[in-house]
Amino acid sequence: MANRIPESFISEVRQKVNIVDVIGKYTTLVKRGRQWSGSCPFHDDRHPSLFVEENKQVFNCFSCGRSGSVFSFVMEKEGLTYPESIISLAKEAGIPIDNQLVNDATKQINPRTQAIYDLHDAAQRLYQHILTNTTSGEPALKYLREKRKLSDNIIKRFGIGYVPAENVLLHYAQEHNISREVMIASELFIESESGDLRDRFTNRVVWPIRTVNGQVVGFSGRTLDVNNSIKYMNSPESTFFNKGNLLYNFDQAKNSIRRTRTVLIFEGFMDVIASDMSGYANAVATMGTALTLYHVKQLTRLVDRVLLVYDGDEAGQEAAKRSIDLIKKDNPAIDIGIIHLPDQLDPDEVRVQRGEQFLKQVLEQNVLTPVTFLIDAAKGNKNLSNQTQYLNFLQEVMPILKNATPVEQDIQLTNIANEFGTSKQALIEQLQQTPKANIQPVKNQTRNFSNNDNNLVSNSELDYRRFNSVPTVTQVERAERALIMAMIKKPQVIQQVEEKVGFAFVHSDYQLLMMLINIYHQQHREPFDLAAFMDFIQKPELNQKIMAIERAYGELSVENSAIDDYIKIIAHDGPIDNKITQLKQSINIAKQQHDNEKLLQLTTELINLKKQNSI
Ligand code: UTP
Ligand code: MN
Repeated sequence: MANRIPESFISEVRQKVNIVDVIGKYTTLVKRGRQWSGSCPFHDDRHPSLFVEENKQVFNCFSCGRSGSVFSFVMEKEGLTYPESIISLAKEAGIPIDNQLVNDATKQINPRTQAIYDLHDAAQRLYQHILTNTTSGEPALKYLREKRKLSDNIIKRFGIGYVPAENVLLHYAQEHNISREVMIASELFIESESGDLRDRFTNRVVWPIRTVNGQVVGFSGRTLDVNNSIKYMNSPESTFFNKGNLLYNFDQAKNSIRRTRTVLIFEGFMDVIASDMSGYANAVATMGTALTLYHVKQLTRLVDRVLLVYDGDEAGQEAAKRSIDLIKKDNPAIDIGIIHLPDQLDPDEVRVQRGEQFLKQVLEQNVLTPVTFLIDAAKGNKNLSNQTQYLNFLQEVMPILKNATPVEQDIQLTNIANEFGTSKQALIEQLQQTPKANIQPVKNQTRNFSNNDNNLVSNSELDYRRFNSVPTVTQVERAERALIMAMIKKPQVIQQVEEKVGFAFVHSDYQLLMMLINIYHQQHREPFDLAAFMDFIQKPELNQKIMAIERAYGELSVENSAIDDYIKIIAHDGPIDNKITQLKQSINIAKQQHDNEKLLQLTTELINLKKQNSI
């Protein structure tokens, strides 16, 4: 939310830039009624599911859910921050910008943090200098050249250095009058019990770790001493070194990731370097942690395809499985490939032992689909000539296949039939009986398709829904949406709702929206502007909800009696709605387990609940 760019400047950009022109540069837009539509440039989009509303200056993709203002679009598409997106569009629109504004937009950083960053930059330069130009760096340089087969050019490009025993950074910091407080906070030193500081990574080769913007924020250091049991040491977690959102080499890989719309994700930073040397510069790695949703979100907005390169051991396979789930949940449209490495080697070992050309081939050719990978993994530790284990294997495989394409299902079932001598027909039947696992992003369950929700959505969304059978929203959620719209139009409604003791929205998103609308009203006097509101809250995951609310209820006038009705529906039906969802889930489980008695009991409960509440 915070930015130092004056609102007046943002408004000027908003007025001078037309979202149709901006998005039109990335995809062909065709006018349909009041809006424009086209293929969504964020993913492989066969039906035009992107809609741009020129009068409101917002966009929405019904398929991937991305939506927002012209700034949101540029942020996602170009990987920019909000202030950067404003500057970028202002430049394009030919709006004069003074340098101070650009600095403010790109460098909102306090002096202490800047001092810590500067110290990291200095450390990187110093350590690299020691490695490449001094005698104390010679053994390390020899190790990198000979053992790790790195060229001087690569050593330079990845900023690799060596930290000698004699505390060079400590001396540098003292000469430059850097405060002890900054030195300690930088985590580049270790403090002894007596309070003396010394360089943290002494006697180690160090790889700098940079943010997506190229700022060095930490190091990973490898000892050259075979007797040292701590082979690798990383900078500790801190406010500026956060493994959960750092991706090694993201800054240098970004352009290539964007250009190829593909990213390779590795486990180790040496693997990234190996990939780069083999011609794939679009490579990143996590820093010794599992992939997080934050990592995924940074990447998926730039790519259509993710290639996961994990070690062939069990830990690597588990990590790959989790990563597949995470990526699918974030964006089901992303094409995922899993790269299988030969002979239990890690990618860097493949390069060192077999050469760059060979690694390149592996990265190009050994790509498994998630289905093949998951089925192979399910086979992994089982003795499939044992009947029980074979049946367990099938139990694991069927839910995987349920989400696969018909062709992939056919290929895999044929393989299994041939390999294990089971009839393909029997396998097909078992697959048919398997309930579909839900890997779509969480959406509401369909309750009633013939309700009046349909006259509240635009024709384009209706077309899209018919095509893709997108579930409609429940009555409770419709009441929540209408109530939110009322709050947008009349701030007093917020107070009215807050006075209802014990009232809460059923879906927490709306509770959050209420709070945000309240703050927005307090800070903005002008009439509500959809695009400006979305920019104000900076929560991409809420944009589509807000747009749906505006689309459905934007024209409704706010009647006080209606407000009370909405509140009643939410307070009364909400808990029942949740109960119905839970019952349906239990019914599915009972079906899966062929527990007919339980199935009967749960179904009766569901019917009664529906009858009592005449749903
Ligand atoms: P290795 O343990 O094989 O390290 O980890 P190594 O340096 O190649 O050591 P040797 O010579 O085989 O004994 C493989 C890769 O995992 C990453 C590094 O990229 C390393 O090259 N790694 C390892 C980390 O990122 N962090 C660690 O803490 C350890
Ligand atoms: Mn190794």
